[in-house]
Amino acid sequence: MAKASVEVVDRILNARSVAVVGASANPGKWGYMFLDNILKGGYGGSLCGINPRERSILGVPIYPSVMDIPGDIDLLVVCVPVEMVPDVIEQGIRKRAAGAALITSGYREKGRADLEEDLRKRIEGRNFRIIGPNIAGINYLPNRLQANVTKSFRTRGPIGIVSQSGSVSAILAEWAEEEGIGISGLINLGNQVDLCETDFIEFFSADPSTKVISLYLEGPKNGKAFTEILRVLPMLKPIVVMKPGKTAGGRRAALSHTASMAGDDAVFGAACEQFGLVRASDLESFYDYTKIFALMPLPEGNKVGVVSSSGGIASIVVDDLESSGLALPPIPGTIVEELRLRMNVPGANFEANPIDMPSLGPDNYRRVMEILEPWDRCDMYLFVFADPIPGIEEVMDEIARTCGKPLAVIYVGGGDEGKRGMAEMLKRGIPVYPTPERAVRSLAKLAWYGNYRRDGRDA
Ligand code: COA
Repeated sequence: MAKASVEVVDRILNARSVAVVGASANPGKWGYMFLDNILKGGYGGSLCGINPRERSILGVPIYPSVMDIPGDIDLLVVCVPVEMVPDVIEQGIRKRAAGAALITSGYREKGRADLEEDLRKRIEGRNFRIIGPNIAGINYLPNRLQANVTKSFRTRGPIGIVSQSGSVSAILAEWAEEEGIGISGLINLGNQVDLCETDFIEFFSADPSTKVISLYLEGPKNGKAFTEILRVLPMLKPIVVMKPGKTAGGRRAALSHTASMAGDDAVFGAACEQFGLVRASDLESFYDYTKIFALMPLPEGNKVGVVSSSGGIASIVVDDLESSGLALPPIPGTIVEELRLRMNVPGANFEANPIDMPSLGPDNYRRVMEILEPWDRCDMYLFVFADPIPGIEEVMDEIARTCGKPLAVIYVGGGDEGKRGMAEMLKRGIPVYPTPERAVRSLAKLAWYGNYRRDGRDA
């Protein structure tokens, strides 16, 4: 792993002092929103703003220029128009700042590659690094740094997001926030005039606060460097990747968004298979896969034990499991016998996997697992709750902790109790999905990646 990249990014994300350049008292301006969001995020370092006319905004001290900041400054968050940027960068270099998050747009994506070339030359060999330009911001929650135009993401969690789209990263972070899972960091790459996706993937791979990396990429900045890191990093942590450009229209759109060359989709798909990248084809699965990797350990194999309160949903689950390459090990006669003897649930069918148990009592699910789990033939479990089951969250929490294997829950048709239970389970770190398809797809990716990690890339 390139130590240099990790150190450079670390200096920026763990900045002890931040200046918002272009800070404004006008709530409709980017320079106001950044200041406000950094404050609301609870940043603990020293914060100031730069504006030629103001002296204080939102209680934050404002200086006329970067050179006027008393003391050292680590990070500039730059939101002034494009023509003012070179001067700001020069001042940042002279102040020995670590770098800038350059929010400003109007570069290569608007046909002004020359302006990017100017920036590149300006910082060359001068120990000053740029994230962007053309970005929505950067967040790193271990440093309580929320330099993003989107509202603060308060929940600190295990997801590190690296994205060429501000909107895609915001959606992912918002869903993670809503489900109480949270993020460790969020990096918008923009046009990648300097620091690029490989630097941040390397950083998050080494970051103890990050368990899974979610990468939205329109096209790698440097294909060779990207391939180099893929030889090593996906073996350390799961990287879930989404890349548009399946169609010619999608590739054209990526080109005009961040001037990225999306490349051949089939080639990228093959690279994902070869290097162990978990590929998502839409936003929903991008989040779903990220979620299961964030919350669950990797399974030892592909065998799934299913316990369901609904025979109907269980049938859908079986179709999905079988078409996803997951296996349903049959339950041996001795276990079936024990289940019949010890469980008292009218209408239950213990003969097969899925176990069909129309029970509204959470304790029955605990008891089933006490009998099933010592058999130890399942690598993971899928629970289907298709009725309101009050108190199920406590039992699922206990099951997840005691069995130590990955599991997922489908909770549907439970009305208000179902919604409450779903939120409670998510709070306890149990991945709950609202449809069989989404849960099964996620388990299948977990098993695929687990297999990749165990058997290496020749699997
Ligand atoms: N240093 C510091 N502040 C300066 C300055 C300087 N040299 N010169 C001017 N300012 C102040 C301005 O006076 C203004 O403050 P005010 O409201 O008190 O007047 C503030 O900086 C911002 O400048 P302004 O000219 O009002 O710019 P703006 O807010 O309209 O636009 C950007 C600035 C960066 C937001 C805009 O140029 C831009 O790039 N927008 C698109 C951003 C984008 O889409 N990014 C990608 C997202 S995915």
